Amino acid sequence: MTKLVRFGVSLEKDLLAKFDALLSAKGYASRSEAFRDLIRGTLIEKDWKEGEKVAGAVTLVYDHHRKDLLGRIMDIQHDFHHLIISTQHIHLDHDHCLEIIAVRGRAGDVGRLADSLRSIKGVKHGTVSMSGADENLE
Ligand code: NI
Repeated sequence: MTKLVRFGVSLEKDLLAKFDALLSAKGYASRSEAFRDLIRGTLIEKDWKEGEKVAGAVTLVYDHHRKDLLGRIMDIQHDFHHLIISTQHIHLDHDHCLEIIAVRGRAGDVGRLADSLRSIKGVKHGTVSMSGADENLE
């Protein structure tokens, strides 16, 4: 169990009002929880830059009729097989597939995998999300 530490924060009144409105809209129960998420988000961004361990997901939406595309997506996933935990394929509609690729590894490597997949011609949309896979999850 991690020990909690209390500290004071000074903010301009207007900025705090905007922050309270935002956390209310997002459904946070307290300012503390919102601050914790902001700090975690900043630390995770630092991980991304410094190549620390992350876990996350790459998502792709692509045209299922393009068979060359399927082969290319598969080839790249085999090239990066050491990063991939699992993949889920969803047939979105008659024309489109959604692929969700769960990943774990160095942030830089995960980024290169995501960039390789997203840049394939015919991939309509691609995203990558990462969370810290070590002490930043405390
Ligand atoms: Ni499909």
